[in-house]
Amino acid sequence: MEKKNIDWSSLGFGYIPTDARYVANYKDGAWDAGGLTEKATIEMSECAGVLQYAQTCFEGLKAYTTADGKIVCFRPDLNAARMADSCRRMKMPVFPEERFVEAIVETVRANKQWVPPYGSGATLYLRPFMFGINPVIGVKPATEYQFRVFATPVGPYFKGGIKPLTLRISDLDRAAPKGTGHIKAGLNYAMSLYNIVDAHEQGYDENVYVDSATRTHIEETGGANIIFVTKDGKLVTPKSETILPSITRRSLLQVAKDYLGMEVEERAVALDELESFAECGLCGTAAVISPVGTIVDHGRRIEFAGMGPVIQKLYDTLLGIQMGTVEAPEGWITVIG
Ligand code: PLP
Ligand code: COI
Repeated sequence: MEKKNIDWSSLGFGYIPTDARYVANYKDGAWDAGGLTEKATIEMSECAGVLQYAQTCFEGLKAYTTADGKIVCFRPDLNAARMADSCRRMKMPVFPEERFVEAIVETVRANKQWVPPYGSGATLYLRPFMFGINPVIGVKPATEYQFRVFATPVGPYFKGGIKPLTLRISDLDRAAPKGTGHIKAGLNYAMSLYNIVDAHEQGYDENVYVDSATRTHIEETGGANIIFVTKDGKLVTPKSETILPSITRRSLLQVAKDYLGMEVEERAVALDELESFAECGLCGTAAVISPVGTIVDHGRRIEFAGMGPVIQKLYDTLLGIQMGTVEAPEGWITVIG
């Protein structure tokens, strides 16, 4: 199979439409059979629920070419389960979890030429999403929905690849107690747009959100969870009901424990203990593990090792599992072709 003629290693994190995407529609209380289409645009009512009241949620995962030339996906069942949670919270119908995984597999198979080669540093990003499509003018859930999956080849999320990031502690919030921070609703990202533009204008790569109730604890950034490594080599990650349960972070905790023999702690992390950590990183599907060099908390600057020895080991092991050079735990890898 011929790959597309793309300079894979110079890709950033952008949208390039590929050959096929998956579409299914929900109407009269049921999902249709769904299937692939070449059409990358959507026509809908001016009054569609998604346009008026932002009734939409999404997922993100990747397909990889392994060292021995297979195409695989990493833990798509967990994306299916998280999307089901998002839908329940948004009063949207759940797209059945087995069908979600099948839709991913079909989309990747139909876009094999777009899966970047092993060693290129790029991957095929998959974006499943769902939205209310029928007219809604009173504030209530839509009754008709569309579920789609598209694919786009991507490189690093942060400009400059794995250059250590500079983050700032945010004065604005993205999630409220009992709100929607724990699901992947489009509205959470709309909330963060003003702040990410401002952060970039002020020279920061991302915002670190703190808990909005007390402003004393670290939560996550706009698009990734946070991990810390203590000076004695323990992995610490914030536990909170208002952050997205990152699949990368949950996987890293297991990798740290089972592959690297590390002690791990998932617990509340106070803003004023940042100086006690040696290393810091952002983790997520898009972010992979991006090393953090500095966090600026107003007048206070906290420096970390960037790609320090522990984050490097976590990175190498996780990518090894995804790329097939390190044996994966049972069920983590779905072979597509
Ligand atoms: N936190 C937020 C706000 C995100 O948007 C993402 C990306 O999906 C993550 C964390 C990381 O989650 P995952 O590792 O499942 O991609
Ligand atoms: C992902 O990592 O898949 C996300 O959805 C994060 C987004 C900021 C690109």
